[in-house]
Amino acid sequence: MTQRKPIIIGNWKMNCTIAESLDLASKLRDVLGGLRDIEVGISPPFTALSEVVKRVQDSDLIVAAQHCHVEDGGAFTGETSIPMIADLGCSHVLLGHSERRQYFGEDDRGVNAKAKKVLAAGMRPVICIGERLSEREANQTFEVVGRQLAGALEGLPASVAEQIVVAYEPVWAIGTGKTASTAQAQEVHGFLRGQLLEILGAEAGATVRIQYGGSVKPENISGLMAQPDVDGALVGGASLNAESFIGILKYDRQA
Ligand code: 13P
Repeated sequence: MTQRKPIIIGNWKMNCTIAESLDLASKLRDVLGGLRDIEVGISPPFTALSEVVKRVQDSDLIVAAQHCHVEDGGAFTGETSIPMIADLGCSHVLLGHSERRQYFGEDDRGVNAKAKKVLAAGMRPVICIGERLSEREANQTFEVVGRQLAGALEGLPASVAEQIVVAYEPVWAIGTGKTASTAQAQEVHGFLRGQLLEILGAEAGATVRIQYGGSVKPENISGLMAQPDVDGALVGGASLNAESFIGILKYDRQA
């Protein structure tokens, strides 16, 4: 069986000053030594990225940007290009977060174009997908996440499988305190695994890590991580507090 190293990333969204970001990053860096069996990342706001990268550069802490523009440069006021993010020293970029899809009109084609460019720049995309409540209630979950996954991966070679992370975040579970049950999470993750095997081939598809996101907390992480196709978590609110994020990172490995 393919061994996939779990990856847990804290998405800080539009929160934290530079000072707050550095404080949180330092506390996480200091516990990493005891957590060698997982990859740990943080995704601070753009304003703090440069300082945070410098603060954690001697550690294994991953630093991810939350968003990027697809063009390398030009007249796109307020945007940040992939070369600029690589220049900052980030190794990962979150793509297609549901908040970007909902408020900024991002779609699967754009996510696909950005994923190709992020990979070409030597960084790793974290591709976020997930159904809305109305879609789940209409029994369209597999159709929606299947379309999002296939759209995001279109034209990507199997050779990049290990560089890709997929984050399944049911929109109805984000920031609501309503986590998917472990069975609901595994049901969708298992479906996504099957799709990955089909799209990328059995060998490569088995190496892609699939994170769960949506109200992940120290209290529910262990059950989620015990599921065979849950390979990590993308954590919002609970990653803004060092104690709760560290509690998540120290989930029960035997559960
Ligand atoms: P919460 O953990 O706050 O529900 O957010 C999840 C999320 O959107 C992470 O990207």
